[in-house]
Amino acid sequence: MQTPVPQPVLKGSKALIVGVANEHSIAYGCAKAFHELGADLALTYLNDKAKPYVEPLARALEAPLFLPLDFAQPGQLEAVFASISRQWGQLDILVHSAAFAPKDDLQGGLLNCSAEGFAKAMDISCHSFIRMAKLAAPLMKEGGTMFTMTYHGADKVIPNYNVMGPVKAALECACRYLAFELGNKKIRVHAISPGPLKTRAASGLKDFDRLLAEAAERAPLGELVDIMDVGFACAYLATPYARRITGGTVYVDGGANIRA
Ligand SMILES: NC(=O)c1ccc[n+]([C@@H]2O[C@H](COP(=O)([O-])OP(=O)(O)OC[C@H]3O[C@@H](n4cnc5c(N)ncnc54)[C@H](O)[C@@H]3O)[C@@H](O)[C@H]2O)c1
Repeated sequence: MQTPVPQPVLKGSKALIVGVANEHSIAYGCAKAFHELGADLALTYLNDKAKPYVEPLARALEAPLFLPLDFAQPGQLEAVFASISRQWGQLDILVHSAAFAPKDDLQGGLLNCSAEGFAKAMDISCHSFIRMAKLAAPLMKEGGTMFTMTYHGADKVIPNYNVMGPVKAALECACRYLAFELGNKKIRVHAISPGPLKTRAASGLKDFDRLLAEAAERAPLGELVDIMDVGFACAYLATPYARRITGGTVYVDGGANIRA
């Protein structure tokens, strides 16, 4: 390998992480893993209600940038990238770990999902990643790595996952097209597919505790995953050691997805 690998391996890398709601968030596992490996972080919070939960975490991780970001608020995403451009002039890592569907549309089954609910879920959970990729790419001047979080319900029917199944399928497909379009800039794009984790977003799914119990039972490795498992998998993919890997869906689920 010709690329020199710094020590610690992400030393000096600049990472934007979207989706920390609290210390259980998958995005927080990513932020902690990147920080441990030497990256500088920009963290966002959804709104003033979320800020008090996220701020202490951003402080503990010594994040020099801490900014509001609601994908539904016009101009906020552009403001985040303007701040990054001013402060760092570059970006190496982008983590999109956010999803949303209106509760009735999520819980009522796909047949009963309204057109508005479907569009909202797609906008916040999928198209927002494409918008972020477009703004991030010009800042990834020496290449970079982009991540979004998906779930096995994109590929196989998982009871109660409902509208999020087609939305995550679109997200995984978007990763393939983004990887294709950004490959010539040495930007790599990954969909990460964690096994179930008890987070706030997961609490919106019916019978989630049963899903957790089944996941541990089905996984060849016999255990549930935690947010640091996901964080370190992403951290590895962001290093030069993974420089020829792009476009795929990477499962961090103890192997549960291989089971019939
Ligand atoms: N928890 C699981 O079992 C699991 C499994 C596989 C994939 N995922 C995915 O992981 C990602 C992170 O979810 P999590 O489980 O860590 O839950 P979480 O509730 O901690 O994180 C979800 C995040 O989405 C953000 N978000 C929602 N609407 C937003 C908007 N309009 N603008 C900006 N941000 C918005 C929230 O602020 C929150 O930080 C999601 O994409 C989820 O689908 C979760």
